[in-house]
Order: sequence, then C-alpha cells, then structure tokens
Amino acid sequence: QTGFITLDTGYKNTGSTKSAVTFLDGEEGILKYRGYAIEELAEKSSFLEVAYLLIYGDLPKQAELDKFQNDISMHTLIHEDMKKFFDGYPSKSHPMAQLISLVCSLSTFYPECLKSHQTPEEKDLTIIKLMAKMTTLVAFIYKKSLGHPLIYPKNKYDYVTNYLWMTFGQRTEDYEVNPVVVSAMNKLLILHADHEQNCSASTVRMVGSSDCNLYASISAGIAALWGPLHGGANQAVIEMLELIKEDGGDTEKWINKAKDKNDPFRMMGFGHRVYKNFDPRAKIIKKACDDILENLGIDDPVLEIAKKLEEAALTDQYFIDRKLYPNVDFYSGIIYRALGFPSEMFTVLFALGRLPGWIAQWKEMHENKEPINRPRQIYVGHKDREFVPISSRG
Ligand code: SDX
Repeated sequence: QTGFITLDTGYKNTGSTKSAVTFLDGEEGILKYRGYAIEELAEKSSFLEVAYLLIYGDLPKQAELDKFQNDISMHTLIHEDMKKFFDGYPSKSHPMAQLISLVCSLSTFYPECLKSHQTPEEKDLTIIKLMAKMTTLVAFIYKKSLGHPLIYPKNKYDYVTNYLWMTFGQRTEDYEVNPVVVSAMNKLLILHADHEQNCSASTVRMVGSSDCNLYASISAGIAALWGPLHGGANQAVIEMLELIKEDGGDTEKWINKAKDKNDPFRMMGFGHRVYKNFDPRAKIIKKACDDILENLGIDDPVLEIAKKLEEAALTDQYFIDRKLYPNVDFYSGIIYRALGFPSEMFTVLFALGRLPGWIAQWKEMHENKEPINRPRQIYVGHKDREFVPISSRG
C-alpha cells in the first residue's frame, strides 16, 4: 500500500502496519519516539529513560525511572549454567551468532516466558529480565572474546555505566567512570533504540505474531539485524574505511568503484530504504564523533576518510540521483572504536540499543491482539503441469 494516509496524528503515514511507537518521515528526515524528536532525546535523555518511553509509552517520572532501574538491577545476573555456552563456541565465533543463541536460550532458563496468556505483570517481568540480562550477555561475550575474566554487574551503577563496567572493568583495578564515555554510549544507544518497521523490527513482529515468546522473537530480530544490508553495516563501514586507508586513502577511486555496476563494492553506510534526503541520526552521530574524539584526545585517520567520502558523494550525480546519503551506520563505528570496542562488537551494540524498540513493538502487537502475520504473494510460477514418472523424464 503506498501513498500517505494522514490519521488524526497529522503525520504522513505509509505502509500497512499500525504502530504508535516511532514516526519516520523519510523526505523531511524526521524521527520521533512516541512523539518526541530524536534530537531532543539524544541531547537531554538517558538511554534507560528512552527505553522506558518506548516500552511504556511516556517519559517516566523520577520515581518510575528509579523503580525501572532498580527492577533491572535485580535481574542483571544470568543463570550460572549459561556460562557453559561460552565453553562450546569456537574462539573466534562472531558475537552476533552467540547473542542470537544466548537470547533464545533465556527461554530455557526462565521458562515462565513460555506461559501463554501471561498476565501483564508476568509479561513485564519477562521484559525487565531481558533488558537486564542483555547487558550482561553482551559484556560476557566481549570478555570471553578477549579471554579475560568475566566482570559481574554492580547494582550501584546505572544501566549504561553498569554495562561499561562489565565490559571494560578489570578485577584487579578500580573502575574509573569516564563521563564522556558514559554520555557517548547513552547517545549512541538512544539513536539506535527504534526505527519503525525496519527489517529486524518487522521480524520481531512476524515471529511474535505466532504468540512465540519474547526471547525467541527478539533472537529472530537479532538474526535479521546481523545482515550487512541492515545493522551489520556498521561493522562493514569501519572495515571499508580501513580498506580505503590501507589502499592509500584514494576516496575518488572507491567512489567510482561504488558506482560501477560491474563492481560488487557498495559504499557501506550510504543509502536508506526510507530516508531519501538525510538520516537525522547520522547528523547527530557525525557531530558527536568530532566532540567525543576531541574529548578523548583520539585522532582516528578513518574519520577524515569518512568525511572525504561524504563530501565527494554529496556532489556526485550518481549518489544525488539515487538519494544516497550517510545513514546511522556511517559514523557510529568510529565512535564505538574510540570507546574501545572492536568492530566485531559493533552490531551487537546496535542490538543492545535496538532492544527497547523491539520490545515495545512486540508488546504493542500483543496489546493490539493482532492476528498472526500471514503475508500473501503474487504467484509467478508454472501454470498447471501433468505429472511425469521419473522413468519417462529422459
Ligand atoms: C539500517 O530500515 C531501516 O530503518 C534500517 C535502519 C534501522 O535503524 O533499522 O536504518 C538501519 O539498516 C541502515 C542501512 C545500513 N545498510 C547499509 O549502509 C548498506 C549499504 N546500503 C545499501 O545496501 C542500500 O542503500 C540499502 C540496503 C540501505 C537500501 O537499499 P534500497 O533502498 O533497496 O536501494 P537499492 O538497493 O534498491 O539501490 C537503489 C540504487 C541502485 O542503483 P541502480 O540499480 O538504481 O543503478 O542505489 C544504488 C543501487 O545500486 N545503491 C548504492 C548503495 N545503496 C544503493 N550504490 C552504492 N553504494 C550504496 N551503498
């Protein structure tokens, strides 16, 4: 279904899924979570505040946010037997493969999620457990990749600081919280928190529509996000920038490769199914890139290459004609790297940010009592054919 349907919200609407979570206007570059502009949320909110907004529909009062943080703190530990999974993965397993299986396996350790027709309180506890344990799983995946001892959560820390403690903390040292890093992490997670009916959110709604439990539905969304055309692009962007740097930084050569129909190379981090002018998140992340790298005293040569690519593409007719502009993934990896993350962890960080959005959409679908998703098709196959026994097939 194309064309705009203007409901009483006054917003332009396209597509068929009805949702009250996020609004996108691809022409105007507008992104709003529950009616609040992303630019304001990114500057003035914490990630947990935005997660509450997405999941429960309103910005929390202080007491509500405190309870949300406290409830989550009470559930950040994972069942000790879940650590056995890490002994089974090959040492260089991709973190996304691990996260997909670990999140789905939460349903085996916390089987109350399997109860059909959960009460609102039971559903809410399942949501709280997932928000809490996702940070621990993501941090443990990283620590295991380094062969470092696992760092357990500390309830004195807030959501994002606790995640950074479990990720970068060491058993042998006190953890010095760097406010620049905490602020940057909050901003990045907020900017990734939801994005309407993208590939992974649609997957969560598709799987969840069969009344499948939350953990398995989110695990399916993480799998969809892994693809390099979707969330996997943030890892592909930094690998592309590194390749261009190693190749002498000749951005014009690589712009031409991206334009060459016979060359499989694509300018990763450019283009979007919906944004056809600019991705508002990319604008915020690009500015944050400069601020964070300056605050941390980091000079990353790939940032200059990224800026040269963007400048060149903005005046190149191929990119202009196809409305190809930097998307959320183009600059985000440069910040993740400045914060100390390896590129293999970038898409896992996208998943950590997107979690509240996926949860909000899964919850909305159930509250709306939506039927099982069953898309139809346009059949373009053979007309009727008579069966021929194999002995007669020549
Ligand atoms: C995310 O949906 C969401 O909201 C997703 C997301 C979210 O928050 O959930 O915003 C996150 O997934 C962002 C996108 C990350 N992916 C990338 O950066 C990968 C590189 N980009 C592309 O592969 C592509 O732009 C897509 C997948 C993002 C969008 O694909 P479209 O809109 O289907 O565009 P297309 O593939 O039909 O291409 C249209 C034209 C083609 O040229 P022609 O055949 O018309 O001559 O544009 C060209 C394409 O070849 N093109 C590119 C290009 N992207 C499109 N050419 C070079 N480099 C690119 N990146």
